[in-house]
Amino acid sequence: MDTLNPKPAPMNTEHEITICLGSSCFSRGNKITLEAIKAYIREHSLEGRVFFHGDMCNDLCDQGPILKIDDQVFRNVNSDNVYEILNQFFETIVR
Ligand code: FES
Repeated sequence: MDTLNPKPAPMNTEHEITICLGSSCFSRGNKITLEAIKAYIREHSLEGRVFFHGDMCNDLCDQGPILKIDDQVFRNVNSDNVYEILNQFFETIVR
């Protein structure tokens, strides 16, 4: 999982995607959702523009699985709705 390291964001990335890998979010779907996000980044050639990594519990377990894009928090994220979330956020830069 080299894209999920805890290192600071590279200087040249434009956006940050943070997936909660706390035990609740991980077991309730983020284990699968993270693979969907990696595929989305790859399919849209966003590797150099997006810093994708995981973090620990955000204390929002009852609203999870949790995903953050920059300073926006998305709740109840799953592998079915994550593409729509990513498309809405990135639609201006993936066209
Ligand atoms: S495990 Fe994700 S908010 Fe707690």
